[in-house]
Amino acid sequence: MSGVGFDEVRRFATLDSTNRYLLDQARQGVPEGVVAVADHQSAGRGRLGRTWESPAGSNLLASVLLRPVLPPAQLHLCTAAVALATADACAAVAGVAPTLKWPNDLLVDERKLAGVLAEVDPGAPGGPAGSVAVVVGVGVNVGWPGPPGAGGTSLLELTGRPVDRDALLDALLGALADRRTGLGTEGGRRRLADEWRDSCGTLGCRVRVELSDGWFEGTAADLDEVGHLVVRTTAGLRAVLAGDVIHLRTEGPGPTTRGQPGSRGSPGPN
Ligand code: BTN
Repeated sequence: MSGVGFDEVRRFATLDSTNRYLLDQARQGVPEGVVAVADHQSAGRGRLGRTWESPAGSNLLASVLLRPVLPPAQLHLCTAAVALATADACAAVAGVAPTLKWPNDLLVDERKLAGVLAEVDPGAPGGPAGSVAVVVGVGVNVGWPGPPGAGGTSLLELTGRPVDRDALLDALLGALADRRTGLGTEGGRRRLADEWRDSCGTLGCRVRVELSDGWFEGTAADLDEVGHLVVRTTAGLRAVLAGDVIHLRTEGPGPTTRGQPGSRGSPGPN
């Protein structure tokens, strides 16, 4: 496919949710690549029905509309593309190198710096044949680390200086463009899954996996080719498609490219 530019950035002082806005736009047929960014969200969405809050003007709150032609099992890779691009942007603009916690968090020393939320509308018109509208939103704690006691951190806290949200968004969209192109080919998807595996601080950790109908513990052993977490348990290997993962302690080699030495050894907030 030709490259997606992410050139159309729609800016809002306040929205209920940039994800909700772009999902509505997708249903109206707007093309791939549109970006929504808000200074404040009145009903920001987090994973698993949670809310995502931050004071006006403090954090980066942005969503992108993708329309990839992807088998449903590989839609996880859209989350990975945005998470990896966000990590690149934090490194380039702030000198902070987060690790990725499966499936959607960016952590520094086990504290949450950013979260990614992908929402899909398979019926939204407007893309190429066989495509799916996927809105991927990201909240980066730039100036505000999240509610007290929630275990978050911010770029301000980590660097001791204010970080420009526009520069961060520009870097993120630049880092996303190539990865979006990669989503369109089998080789690109394989490279993306490899990159995700290399950057995933969850691998090697003793983890507790919380599912809608219970929980289990094991050691995070791998990400499979479509990005599902493979956990080694006493009963054998178990693939996790969706769920909440808590890092308990590190048991083996972690990420090979972006690892934060000594950052994954202790229990941390989820
Ligand atoms: C999570 O960690 O639970 C994911 C949080 C995702 C928050 C972002 S902020 C911009 C975009 N719009 C939303 O309503 N949510 C995402």
